[in-house]
Amino acid sequence: MSRKNVIAANWKMNMTPSETASFLDSFLKTFPEPTAVEIVLAPPFVSLPKAAELMAGQSAVGLSAQNMSHEASGAFTGEINAAMLKEVGCQYVILGHSERRSLYGENDVVINKKVHATLAAGLVPILCIGESLEERDGGQLEFVLSQQLEGSLAGIDAAQMPGIIIAYEPVWAIGTGRTATPDQAQETQCYVRSVLERLFGGEVAAAVRIQYGGSVKPGNAAELISQPDIDGFLVGGASLDPASFADIVKAGA
Ligand code: PGA
Repeated sequence: MSRKNVIAANWKMNMTPSETASFLDSFLKTFPEPTAVEIVLAPPFVSLPKAAELMAGQSAVGLSAQNMSHEASGAFTGEINAAMLKEVGCQYVILGHSERRSLYGENDVVINKKVHATLAAGLVPILCIGESLEERDGGQLEFVLSQQLEGSLAGIDAAQMPGIIIAYEPVWAIGTGRTATPDQAQETQCYVRSVLERLFGGEVAAAVRIQYGGSVKPGNAAELISQPDIDGFLVGGASLDPASFADIVKAGA
């Protein structure tokens, strides 16, 4: 089963609209046409319209939000719904990032509601999972990942799964410069796929794309992507520079 690699830039709370414009000015020159990989940019909410405007008329790069409310509309101060994201041109939404989980108290119940709302709106969820260092060192790795998958994918049909991207991001590797080794990442992603197989069957598990995230850089991307169960990256710090993100995309192709 061939899976198209998907390389996504998670800009987190970086990149104003004007910074987004100068990034795209240079990045879209590198990738004027669709490549062998799917490229996704996730700017902060306020930079989405500027990104969409500059990306209009090209099909090489897709647009993602970094979070979304599961509510349809109403009295939810500070929240953003699916209709708003669709209207500004988003096709993807990152959900359950470890920073959302640890700093803003999101748990699998809430993330599950968001996954359902995202799919109902025709958006592609990029669902993040990952263990802390204590959990890995304490022998809890498989338990934590299977709990996160079961909880956040509750009520999802097998037929919906190929429309979901999973991002495995060991928390200890995010923004730390400490990447999982290719072997560690492969072993864990193979385990993630085995959980998907248990939940949704072998055919579905073989079709779902599983990204690796956590200190991906131009220098380690090629070796990581050569692992059979790594189908792309979710890139934070190294995605803020157009040349560095372009090098990661090229490694992924
Ligand atoms: P990093 O972040 O590449 O800066 O480690 C990855 C992420 O949090 O998605």
